[in-house]
Amino acid sequence: MINKKRIFSGIQPSGNLHIGNYLGAIKNWVALQDEFESIFCVVDMHAITVPQGPETLRKKTIEIAKIYLAAGIDPKKSAIFVQSQVSEHAELMWILNTIAKMSELEKMTQFKDKSRKSGIESAGVGLFDYPVLMAADILLYGTEVVPVGEDQKQHVELARDLAKRFNQKFGETFIVPKAFIKEEGMRIMGLDDPAKKMSKSAASEYNYISLLDDEQTIRRKIKKAVTDSGSEIVYSDEKPALKNLINIFCSFSGKSFKEIEKNFVGKGYGDFKNELANVVVESLKPFQEKFNSISDEDVLKILKEGAEKVRPIAKAKLDEAKRKVGFVG
Ligand code: AMP
Ligand code: TRP
Repeated sequence: MINKKRIFSGIQPSGNLHIGNYLGAIKNWVALQDEFESIFCVVDMHAITVPQGPETLRKKTIEIAKIYLAAGIDPKKSAIFVQSQVSEHAELMWILNTIAKMSELEKMTQFKDKSRKSGIESAGVGLFDYPVLMAADILLYGTEVVPVGEDQKQHVELARDLAKRFNQKFGETFIVPKAFIKEEGMRIMGLDDPAKKMSKSAASEYNYISLLDDEQTIRRKIKKAVTDSGSEIVYSDEKPALKNLINIFCSFSGKSFKEIEKNFVGKGYGDFKNELANVVVESLKPFQEKFNSISDEDVLKILKEGAEKVRPIAKAKLDEAKRKVGFVG
């Protein structure tokens, strides 16, 4: 048997997962799990780098795992686990902390964005160190490919740099991973502002369609979505709001934008939005049914098994790194 390459990715259990997360990340993972040996993590230790209510965090952690499962990640093929249940992540992070540089972390766009609110002086150390924990996540498993969105590219670059630096200092230990970023087209923009990406931390719920929104909510949000001037259904950069809605239509229906343009000749935004709502509602229905059929107990069991499956891999790599830096074993 040919050894499959390993992929690793994760999502934070904070906010509401939306159709952008699905179309831009999870759908892609489902497609990759046959070709790669896949590990998908719920990164709760990353989530607490900004304040989270303990009850909400617990609820969201289970919810994200259920979303992975309902979307088609198969625990027989892939490992699904919670980051905090494999303590090797925190331990390797410490070692990597000693070779990471302040200047590398200071230039991270996500840190700059997230610390802007409080100001750098009051920003949490965990928020600053976030990319080093992410590097530990990736390097512990000999990950070769990291499927993420464009916004995470800089963090994967850091993981590459730290792997190379460690290998150079202490001898060959870590595989240098590569980011796998789906090309353009899969970036879903906010329904209330097509200039910014759809985001689970958006201020208004009219920014996104949550994967768990009910039919009425989906219809209301699509009806309220901003549109551009004019009334024709055309796919063009001059009409960014409509372009985004057509992208969503294409992604869920599998139709090309040409077909969609053709179907709506002579019709206006109202008809288009109505049909788009039908497509989104119908596409999310089987997913939501599956989601609702999975019990918390089932998920907790799958997560525990997932952690047990990956822990030996993480432990072996961590032990190797500890030996290399000179810790007595
Ligand atoms: P986040 O919501 O930032 O934690 O991202 C989780 C995953 O979903 C990452 O791989 C992101 O790149 C992806 N993602 C987040 N928002 C979008 C979006 N609006 N369009 C496409 N992909 C997204
Ligand atoms: N930082 C990633 C995000 O917000 C989540 C993440 C944590 C991750 N660790 C990872 C993604 C390791 C890929 C690999 O989207």
